[in-house]
This record gives sequence, structure tokens and C-alpha cells, in this order.
Amino acid sequence: MPSETTNPAADPASAPSVGTHCTITINDIAFGGEGVGRIEDFVAFVPFVLVGETVEVEITEVKKRFARARLLRVLQAAPGRVQPPCRYFGDCGGCQYQHIDYPVQLQLKHKQVCDLFQRIGGFDARVIAPVVPCPQPYGYRNRIMIRSQWDKFKQGLNIGFIRADNRLVVDIDECKIAEPALNEQILHVRAHPPPKGGIKVVLRVAPENWEVPRDSFFQNNFFLLPGLVEAARECLRGSGARFLVDLYCGVGFFGIELAGLVEAFAGVELDQLAIKAAVRNAAARNCRNGEFLTGRAEDLLPALLNRFPPSATSVLVDPPRVGCFPDSLALLRRTRPKQIIYISCHPATMARDLNILCAEGVFELAHVIPLDMFPQTAHLECVADLRLKPGPHSD
Ligand SMILES: C[S@@+](CC[C@H](N)C(=O)[O-])C[C@H]1O[C@@H](n2cnc3c(N)ncnc32)[C@H](O)[C@@H]1O
Repeated sequence: MPSETTNPAADPASAPSVGTHCTITINDIAFGGEGVGRIEDFVAFVPFVLVGETVEVEITEVKKRFARARLLRVLQAAPGRVQPPCRYFGDCGGCQYQHIDYPVQLQLKHKQVCDLFQRIGGFDARVIAPVVPCPQPYGYRNRIMIRSQWDKFKQGLNIGFIRADNRLVVDIDECKIAEPALNEQILHVRAHPPPKGGIKVVLRVAPENWEVPRDSFFQNNFFLLPGLVEAARECLRGSGARFLVDLYCGVGFFGIELAGLVEAFAGVELDQLAIKAAVRNAAARNCRNGEFLTGRAEDLLPALLNRFPPSATSVLVDPPRVGCFPDSLALLRRTRPKQIIYISCHPATMARDLNILCAEGVFELAHVIPLDMFPQTAHLECVADLRLKPGPHSD
């Protein structure tokens, strides 16, 4: 994401103006998917490009220290460029990387995570493992939200996703990254359209053997789910912890999957319906060593860290994109559990929180496993293994 500190040396006199066409070379792809190039000493951000490419762009927005541009033509393509299979790619805001060959996407995401962890967290990139690929890079999403919007020019509804360059809805009749069953549902919605614009319709494929209430969270990609569980399991097994606290537990996914490795576990979640489903999900698997509590992680964590001995406890956190509540981080630093397994789909807030946990050598970042749960998009899941550093408080 560009920020006001992107290019402190920019000379306002050299600022390009909106509408200008320029030729630029792409030096980097920032996290989020925008290519980074230069127009004299001005940084320009342009989507749908690759490192090393020379492209013709049109300036669409000029800020004090950077500009945004729209791709007009690729003059010299990078070897990793491929033909995007989706006809809406570039218009639809859902995918950012369909023009990039899948192995190159994985390398790109690895570099982006390394850069973020170095810049925001101050971590050595060597702790970051290669990105685990998704066995199915298209047709994998099990949940999508489509919107309706009245289009006054065509005097009809647009039904689809938010556009890449503004908040209007692009009319679509298929999504290449969605599971085939969702594409059938899209056609059904189009055949029976909502009565007006401004309506959101959530389409989903329910996971097998998991009860998930309609509005509760579940991981978006079934194909890499075994890989995600295996990454968390490896972390927990390596620590030898006997107790597990699963914060932000949703319908109990990680706690239940990892229950066999510990004597007892507790899951905490704000969504009461998800907690009720978690109890039933555990019972359906005959999983009896766990309990599930409704409440805010930051409120319930102190009591749990009183009950489970920190020196034998692993705390798994899988917070929303904003990251952990600062009080919870402070408490984890104070109570010093043996291990923290931090899982997140937002590497920037994750790197920030890990930096807080590791400050003054309290925890050490042993390794990070990035997993490509969201192929063709700029998103990525990471599992981090933090261990308590030996010291006066660790026994
Ligand atoms: C990224 S999801 C993870 C869910 C679960 N770990 C899974 O893999 O299915 C984050 C979850 O945190 C819950 N949540 C958000 N804020 C919370 C809070 N302050 N305390 C507890 N849970 C919270 C949300 O309801 C959501 O279920």
C-alpha cells in the first residue's frame, strides 16, 4: 500500500498529471498486488503487471509523493506472464494475479511476506518457509458474496463483484476461482434476480462433517485445509505442550483437529452460534478433552492462562484481519506460555503483533509457514511458531 512516506524525495515539479501516458519499468510488486515503477523521481503504482516488465500506463491519480496508473499496454512482457482464463479479469476486483504463472505467484508471495516481516517485524527472512501451493489453483473458493446494483445506463441490474478500480459492481455470470457448485448458484441468482440493487447474496458450499452456522466463519479453501492443519500440528507437536488454548476458534476447527495432541484444550469465540456448533462438532468426533467458551478473547484469556500452566501450554491465535487486541498481546508477554501459534490471513498486522510479542526477547519466532489459501489473489495465509525464550520466567 502506498503511504505518504513512500517517496520522501519526490520533487512536486516533476509530478505527472492525471491523464498523461508514460512508459515505465516495474521494479517490484507491493503486497496487495500493485506493481511499483518510477516516473522520474515519482513512484507510480500500477496493477496487473510483473517485475521486469516495461508497460505503457495512464496516470489516474496523483498524490503528494506517489501516483496511481492504469495499465494500457505491456510493451515488454516478463517470462512469467500468462493469459488470464477469466474474461472479467482486470475489471473485477476479486483477482489480482491471474496474469501470473502459478509458480511465479508463489515466489512473488514469498518475497512479499519476507519483505513485510523484515520491514514491519524486524525479522530475518530465513525463518520464512517457501509458500505451500494450493493443489487446486482455480475452482477452490467455497464462499463468495455477490452484489446487485442498478445500472442506470443499461437500465438493468448488475449482479457480480465490486470492480477493481471503483466501487461499482461488475456484471458476471461465472467466477473462475469459485467452486463449480457456486457457479451453478450464480446462474440461479441471475435467473431469479434480486428485486433491486444494493443487495448482497452469500453463496457457499458447506464443508463436509463440520456444522457451520450461516453467518459464522469457516476457512475459504477446502483443498489446502489439510495443509493448514498439518502446519499447525507440526508447530504444536514440536513444542511438546500438554494444553492448548484456541483463541478466535470459530466452530472449533483448530482445537478439534489438534485435540489428539494435548491432554485438554479450550476454545474461545465471540460468535455464540459458532460456539454452539463447536460443541456439536466436537461431540460428533467423540472429542471429549475440550470445552468452548463464548466471549471476547481478550476478556477470557486471563482466566485460561491461570488455569492451564503456562509452561505446558500452547496458545493458538487466529484473529480477524485487524490482529490481536493489544491487551491480549501484553497478557501473553506477561504470562509467557510455552508457545504461541499465530495464524493469520493478514501478514502485515501479523508481523506487527509478532514484533510486539518478540520485543525484549520474550518470544522467539522459530518459523513461519505461508500457505496459498487464495490463489490468483494477492492474499495469503501464514502460520507462525513462536517459542518462549529461555529466561528467568520460563521453567
Ligand atoms: C479468522 S476467523 C478464525 C476462525 C477459526 N479459527 C477457524 O479457523 O475456523 C476469526 C474468528 O474470530 C472471531 N472473533 C472476532 N473478534 C473476536 C474477539 N474479540 N474475541 C473472540 N473471537 C473473536 C470471529 O467471530 C471469527 O470466528
